[in-house]
Amino acid sequence: MRSSTGFGYNLPNVKRSKDRLIRILQNAYSGEVAAAYAYRGHWGSLKDSPERSRIKDIEAEEWDHRRRVGEWLTNLGSGPNMIREKVFWTMGRTLGISCYISGWFMPMYFAGRLESKNSEEYEDAAALARDLKMDECVKDLLDMARVEVEHEEFFRSVVAGHRLLPIMKTVFRWS
Ligand SMILES: [Fe+2]
Ligand SMILES: [Fe+2]
Repeated sequence: MRSSTGFGYNLPNVKRSKDRLIRILQNAYSGEVAAAYAYRGHWGSLKDSPERSRIKDIEAEEWDHRRRVGEWLTNLGSGPNMIREKVFWTMGRTLGISCYISGWFMPMYFAGRLESKNSEEYEDAAALARDLKMDECVKDLLDMARVEVEHEEFFRSVVAGHRLLPIMKTVFRWS
């Protein structure tokens, strides 16, 4: 079937995909600041250990994602959503501080659950970028999805076998 433009490219669909991609990237951009600050509090609350250094590295990876997502937003002629920025910045700071009082298990569990959503978000974004024929963007987003899966696997491995896991799994459906 011919496209509405007659050139093999359907402009309303392109516009729709672009708008959806921008929205997902704006969510991801702000989500990364929340994650980065939450992880900063998280590793700061732990004693020196391999887990602590891994979470410190994860924080650095989240800042790197934020930088890359920000570049794609600029590329798409857009930028961050300032309301989301304020909300997620506050959320990250609050979570970061709460790690000092909530104990070990809860931040680990919720970090893992959050990471599983992040990888899905980047995969959805990559599918839209593919529709827009933005090959470099697809590659970059899939690479970030892969790193989010690694993060999720790390948190899954640290909570495995914990006595609270079965109940948390039933209520929050992750692991
Ligand atoms: Fe990330
Ligand atoms: Fe992550």
